[in-house]
Amino acid sequence: MNGEKILLHLKRPLPVVCFDSVPSTNEHAKALARQGAAHGTAVFADLQTRGRGRRGRCFLSPAGGLYMSLVVDQEDALPGHLTTLAAVAVARAVREVSGHELQIKWVNDLLYGDRKVCGILTEGVVLDGALSKSVVGIGVNTGPAPDVPGAGTIGQSGRPYDRERLAAFIINRILESLPLVSAHMDGYRALCRTVGQRVSFDLGGARKTGLASGVDDDGALLVKTGEGLLRLIAGEVSVLPG
Ligand code: BTN
Repeated sequence: MNGEKILLHLKRPLPVVCFDSVPSTNEHAKALARQGAAHGTAVFADLQTRGRGRRGRCFLSPAGGLYMSLVVDQEDALPGHLTTLAAVAVARAVREVSGHELQIKWVNDLLYGDRKVCGILTEGVVLDGALSKSVVGIGVNTGPAPDVPGAGTIGQSGRPYDRERLAAFIINRILESLPLVSAHMDGYRALCRTVGQRVSFDLGGARKTGLASGVDDDGALLVKTGEGLLRLIAGEVSVLPG
């Protein structure tokens, strides 16, 4: 990643740190945040050797993808809100940069067609016992699709993707939307393809199924089941065929 090129597309100058390779941009950004890194500090890597995914999973991060983490000073924004806001920002930025229309699979996977092309992991940074900053980590498959079932890419073989422009557009959108952190949910709902689908999920150790009927302003998925309306605040759902 070329830091100068990223700065060219940013609406305001921000601290940008670029690595060829790093274990995890989120880990690095959290360390910087603990040392007092400014709001808007962004960390990039061409590849990650220990990319972190949700629920302790690893996120395969081969060369050619966009791997970035943004330090955010928004004490009143919960990591969940930042994640949904970032999902909307990525979908809109990708549309602007390359015309791909992405959709969101609740809660924070971005799909191109039926394939996952982006994952988002937001982590809080606790200082003196209080949430002081958050790190929004975003991985977009802009190079070859990683060797993971269901993964896709928005890249085209033989044609490098303009990752710097995409990175700057994502950051611009996130930082612009932050003061209105709860106002982005209409945009999220418009992009969320899970709503209207039959889904299955684990709750309290039991497998349940139902119809996803909406997403509320806190980002929770509302599911109509035989036991009534359930509100899922985290976890994973599988979309059932037909
Ligand atoms: C997921 O889909 O499980 C979330 C994946 C988040 C991956 C990004 S890549 C940049 C940043 N650094 C990390 O170690 N993880 C996030």
